[in-house]
Amino acid sequence: MSTMTQTSGAGTYLDAFSELEQRGSKQPEWLRSLRQEAFASFCDTGFPTIKDEAWRFTSVAPISQTAFSLPEAGPSGVTRAEVEPFRIDGTACSLVFINGRFAPELSDQPKLAAGVHAGSLGQALAGDNGALELQLGLKLALQNDAFSSLNTAFIEDGAYVRIARGTVLEAPIHLLFLSTGAEEPLMFHTGMRSLFPTVREAVATLIDPAKLRWVGFSHFEADECGSLNEWQTVAPDATAVCSMVGKLVSVDDFAPKNPAKGMTDGETFETGGHRFKFVHTPHVPHCWEAGMLFDETTGTLFCTDLFHQGGDVEPKTTSDVVGRARETFVEYQAGPFANYFPYTANTDKEIKRLAALKPKVLATMHGSVFEGNGEQALFDFADMLGDVLGRDAKAIAAE
Ligand SMILES: [Fe+2]
Ligand SMILES: [Fe+2]
Repeated sequence: MSTMTQTSGAGTYLDAFSELEQRGSKQPEWLRSLRQEAFASFCDTGFPTIKDEAWRFTSVAPISQTAFSLPEAGPSGVTRAEVEPFRIDGTACSLVFINGRFAPELSDQPKLAAGVHAGSLGQALAGDNGALELQLGLKLALQNDAFSSLNTAFIEDGAYVRIARGTVLEAPIHLLFLSTGAEEPLMFHTGMRSLFPTVREAVATLIDPAKLRWVGFSHFEADECGSLNEWQTVAPDATAVCSMVGKLVSVDDFAPKNPAKGMTDGETFETGGHRFKFVHTPHVPHCWEAGMLFDETTGTLFCTDLFHQGGDVEPKTTSDVVGRARETFVEYQAGPFANYFPYTANTDKEIKRLAALKPKVLATMHGSVFEGNGEQALFDFADMLGDVLGRDAKAIAAE
């Protein structure tokens, strides 16, 4: 099966189907007809809803409302070491599929007993095995529903196991299907331009830096997006995700290679494995264009300068971070970094809007990432800001 990307309607299945039609030039004519018939059947029936008896208790809306795209062709980059934990002992053979595609380099295929075949469906289809025509077509006729239609319409590869009548298998055949997750990696905040080599090296421990697709950031400052141009040089598709204000006022002028995705408050987008909501928070932490991304999939709020903690702290914590942030804000008030956040009539309101997301993880930019009750931590942070900055703001105004 292919994987999902961004929110859209069934139209994206049409786009993916057209792409597959162009790719499938080596496949037999009967398969092309079968696919077209199956896709037409899907277009007729559409996805089931809870009004259909068989699906009364199961909504498929999360599937039908998510756009579909074909997996990328070419090597998956998965290594044998990564597959090893999923293998089981004592099998006759182990066939591995990555994002629905047979991966011979990751599979163990010793010679099987006479009358037993286990291999790639894609290879069998390319060989135009007459038996397959009967089997695949029969399946579709028997199960005329959206999912079997879609599976048939998008057949490219899979497992093909054939066992001659009367043959007894001494050991099981292991079919291992793995997905590589998000296909459009997103990084939130680039770090300063001078830090680019270090950040790139760190990113390379997770993904191929050239595959970075999205660069999210809260506001237009050097530590948030200073190396955006450098990223667009090493990762040709890297595109900024920021507020519409940020895009129009600064970002498209600063990094014109790939125009930014300008987001409005509450807008969502998907990257394959994650669904993000953009929250526009003008002047929180600071700057007109400020906003934050909330990863709805994991409950992570990329909360930028909120919860700023000084010193060399641990990467993650479940302990209080508001007390540490208070120390930083109090210290800053006494020096050149005073009034780090503008304390306005909207400050408390904006932070409480973030609390309403009930984040489980607060991914701060400066300090330990907090795991726990994010809603309460944001309430406490709002109180702390009012206490430190609100009081100072009133005192300054009274002078
Ligand atoms: Fe900042
Ligand atoms: Fe920052």
